[in-house]
Amino acid sequence: MIHCDNLVKIYKIADLEVVALQGLDLHVEAGELMAIIGNSGSGKSTLLNMLGGLDRPSAGSLTVAGRDLLSMSEKDIVSYKRETVGFVWQNNARNLIPYLTAQENVELPILLQGKRKRERAMELLEAVGLSHRLKNRLNQLSGGEQQRVAIAIALANHPKLLLADEPTGSVDSNMANQILDLFRHLTRSLGLTVVIVTHDPLLAKKVDRVVAIRDGKTSSEILRRKSFDQELLESVHGIEEQEEESHVEYAVLDQAGRLQIPPNYLESIGVKNTNKVQVTLEEGRIVLLPPE
Ligand SMILES: Nc1ncnc2c1ncn2[C@@H]1O[C@H](COP(=O)(O)OP(=O)(O)OP(=O)(O)O)[C@@H](O)[C@H]1O
Ligand SMILES: [Mg+2]
Repeated sequence: MIHCDNLVKIYKIADLEVVALQGLDLHVEAGELMAIIGNSGSGKSTLLNMLGGLDRPSAGSLTVAGRDLLSMSEKDIVSYKRETVGFVWQNNARNLIPYLTAQENVELPILLQGKRKRERAMELLEAVGLSHRLKNRLNQLSGGEQQRVAIAIALANHPKLLLADEPTGSVDSNMANQILDLFRHLTRSLGLTVVIVTHDPLLAKKVDRVVAIRDGKTSSEILRRKSFDQELLESVHGIEEQEEESHVEYAVLDQAGRLQIPPNYLESIGVKNTNKVQVTLEEGRIVLLPPE
């Protein structure tokens, strides 16, 4: 679904340049539910904006659902945004209109597409588990329920890819779990691909793959050892929880063979105030040492 190689985004404000993405690699399979984590300012939202066609990359390559987002014409970008992607924002004000009911909020984008709104809105609200809240105004819904209305709207145009920036940022952990379950359900029932951006490391335990971004580059990947289905099956059959961690973390090698090593690892071996490390090969292991 997503092929992103050596992606670069540079923002220019007056004569100041900010390199928000510096050669980022990311590949996402169709039907995957994955998360992107990283500190504030690491480039998560920038990446999401590129994926959603809201902003253009500066260099590198990016294709989503077979469409090349660097060479696409403005006209094609408009149809890409309409037909291929759906967005869910953290801030509800960006998703929803407060004085309309849940149903009216969902009908609105469908109406703009000139389609039959009522049935489709019902269908969408049912898909997100809100059939019983159709006539409630937004201020009569909980934060998590409002977020589910936003997800219904994001699905209105049958997107292939759903992009969610901090979708669980303003709800409690119980509601965050429900929203994640909903995303997982949607990947299965609709074959949707879901990319979630978050600060929350706990979320990592709830999806199959987490990609960490540091300084605008993918720095590590956390993969689930067993599929979610496998784990669910085993818990149903009462198989003992294994001692080992359920996830394993990998550092990401870029195409030039570069690796990002966490600063605290380097500090712990005494690499400080230098841009050099010794790299040696010892009995099938690559060993990093501080300079002599
Ligand atoms: N429109 C813009 N113009 C100039 N600089 C920008 C713009 N958008 C983002 N940046 C800069 O690019 C870098 C990455 O920002 P981005 O918003 O992608 O971070 P983020 O990982 O989403 O952070 P947060 O977790 O706080 O939302 C930051 O240094 C930010 O200041
Ligand atoms: Mg952000």
